[in-house]
Amino acid sequence: MAFDKHLFQNIITEFTIDSDRLHQIAGDFRYDLRKGLEDVNQSSLRMLKSYVGLPTGDEQGEYLALDFGGTNVRVLRIKLLGHGKFEVVKKVAQPLRKPGEYDYVGEGSTAEEMFGFIAGLVDEAIEGDHTTKYLLGHTFSFPSEQTDLYNAKLIIWTKEFATKGVEGQVVNDLLKKALQAKGITNVEPTAVINDTVAVLLAAAYKQPNVYIGSIYATGHNTCYLESFEGQAQEPMILNLESGGFSKIIPNRFDLEFDKQSEKPGEQRLEKMASGRYMGELFGMAMAELLGEKGRKYDFTSIDMSNIILDESTARKDVAAIIKEHTGKELTGDDLTDVQKLASTIVVRSARVVTATYVGIIWQMAGGKPVQEQHIAIDGSVYEKMPLAKENIMRALYELLGDDAPKVDTVLENGGSGLGAAIAAAMSQK
Ligand code: GLC
Repeated sequence: MAFDKHLFQNIITEFTIDSDRLHQIAGDFRYDLRKGLEDVNQSSLRMLKSYVGLPTGDEQGEYLALDFGGTNVRVLRIKLLGHGKFEVVKKVAQPLRKPGEYDYVGEGSTAEEMFGFIAGLVDEAIEGDHTTKYLLGHTFSFPSEQTDLYNAKLIIWTKEFATKGVEGQVVNDLLKKALQAKGITNVEPTAVINDTVAVLLAAAYKQPNVYIGSIYATGHNTCYLESFEGQAQEPMILNLESGGFSKIIPNRFDLEFDKQSEKPGEQRLEKMASGRYMGELFGMAMAELLGEKGRKYDFTSIDMSNIILDESTARKDVAAIIKEHTGKELTGDDLTDVQKLASTIVVRSARVVTATYVGIIWQMAGGKPVQEQHIAIDGSVYEKMPLAKENIMRALYELLGDDAPKVDTVLENGGSGLGAAIAAAMSQK
């Protein structure tokens, strides 16, 4: 079959963000940020306080780091050596769901079971030693309302988590109780941070001029250091929950997907940009091109990555991936069109994400010259998705113009663990 060229072109246009719209999104994000600082109810950003600023880089000592942000939970014993250096002494990792064996994230699971399992991992990380005192930093990558560095209540589960008895609770109280039930009284949870905050802390521990931390992976979110200039308040990192930004005009695929999703109306930007959702949008557009409008084929962002990477003349990989997921055999131009569709969705994602970074940079500059800085990013889309990094750079140039050379992005790989240890160290001040 050959795609309807007119339809194909329309779909590409619908997923394309030109320079004007890019500027509009960055400006709207900045506006929402400013509004959010005045009155959070006026903004689509949650602006969650983290009760932590930037580290000095000289934090030292051995800490426990719990990284809990997806279905894989990790507990690390990390030695901070100061001068931005550290050493991982021990690492334990387990999924929260093993099909056929256990499931701590599904509908039927409870907080007690989940935190009991995590306490077991902590026990492994300290190798059963119930005497040495450890402070534990906890990277908990879900929207949480904090009143201090310890006290973080889960507002709402994201990323399809459904465990009962955690929403509305102080997560470290649940962890403490589970540790005590196992006789682990020497481990004291003292800090909870979002993964974006962990990325920022980890990057700032190693180098100066980092004020923005972001996750660009299955989920997407960003935090930044708010200086609270001219106010009594000390500088503090704010977790924006930027995946909830709702001022980007959605196309009809975005609208349709949101309608069918677990939580319609929530996480609108995340549904356009993060790895978890790009494959879904691609699957909807593919169905339409195959004459099956309204259907959604299951593709992942890894499929999209493999589609984009196929440089063979016959586009053999593209053909195989499409055949595997749809049962359809495509040839010739259709295969390059499939690649173009995947690329266009990835490029859109990188552009909207960058527009939010620039919105923050403009807000931080407050009308003064933009500061020299590195944006710290962690996550599989940023790290591995073809076209992502280069389109972030391109969009930075488009938006920042003469200021663009002052800003770049750095990969902060594994920052969630290191950041948690740094937060534990900072909790002693
Ligand atoms: C989701 C969560 C957010 C987290 C992000 C990346 O957007 O709500 O807290 O930072 O995923 O893991």
